[in-house]
Amino acid sequence: MFLISRQKQLAENEFEFWVEAPRIAEKAQPGQFVILKKDEEAERIPLTIVDTDLEAGTIKVIFQVVGRSTILLAELRDGDYLSDIVGPLGKPTEIENYGTVLLVGGGVGIAVLLPIIKGLSLAGNRVISVLGAKTDELVILRDEVEELSDELIIMTDDGSLGRKGLVTEAMVDVFEREKIDYCWAIGPSMMMKFATLTAQKYEVPMFVSLNPIMIDGTGMCGCCRITVNNEIKFACVDGPEFNAYDVDWDEFVQRSRQYREEETLSLEQLGR
Ligand code: NAD
Ligand code: FES
Repeated sequence: MFLISRQKQLAENEFEFWVEAPRIAEKAQPGQFVILKKDEEAERIPLTIVDTDLEAGTIKVIFQVVGRSTILLAELRDGDYLSDIVGPLGKPTEIENYGTVLLVGGGVGIAVLLPIIKGLSLAGNRVISVLGAKTDELVILRDEVEELSDELIIMTDDGSLGRKGLVTEAMVDVFEREKIDYCWAIGPSMMMKFATLTAQKYEVPMFVSLNPIMIDGTGMCGCCRITVNNEIKFACVDGPEFNAYDVDWDEFVQRSRQYREEETLSLEQLGR
């Protein structure tokens, strides 16, 4: 059993847990994730390790309430327990000093981006961060990102914070202004697809982090299958980060929507 030492609501549907998992905290590297279960009967949920506290032996995860499992997870409070956590899983981010890097995060994808920003900043890169969300309150972790970045640009769909517009518009401004050595874009699949097309236009190499549905997290079930460079890959063991130009985006976007009907049914059964 894994103790939730601290729970915090970040936005209307976004929550942060600090969970006691000392062995995972010790080994975790930027870009890696865990798969957790609320209880024996619960669905497995893959979540990025956003931060670690080695002294307390805890890891931080952030999730958005999107369906039955995350509704139930959000009901947990300080002092409650999770039945299982497996990790760290996935390949770590390739952290090195690339020069000037552009880090683009959309919505709850900002949580996945934060440890990568931290790693790249500590490695001596000049870090320009672009955060985008629907409204002001959904631009999560902005103080943490600002502290680690040389420049922070905020975009909101409704203009309630920073500039009104999409993250891809800020990317164009930066690419027009200066040479970027490497770029990361993490967020909804459509955002990552269009961020890839934008970076491609300016010939800036880019990584994305993919979050397909996962079950075992060990490359055995085939659930997280994606096509990268015309080859079948599994996001849980070959990723979650991939060269953005190699991802078959149309397939990824289509597969990420394939369980919509089952998800709606499951919510109806929960009576919410
Ligand atoms: P959202 O839909 O509010 O989008 C966030 C921002 O992304 C927008 O404000 C906009 O700036 C940008 N964006 C969205 N669509 C775009 C497009 N077509 N072109 C250019 N920019 C675009 O974000 P949300 O509601 O927080 O996101 C939820 C989604 O994020 C879910 O689908 C979830 O699966 C995904 N997600 C991805 C990861 C990951 O690791 N890639 C992690 C967590 C969640
Ligand atoms: Fe089963 Fe990746 S989650 S193969």
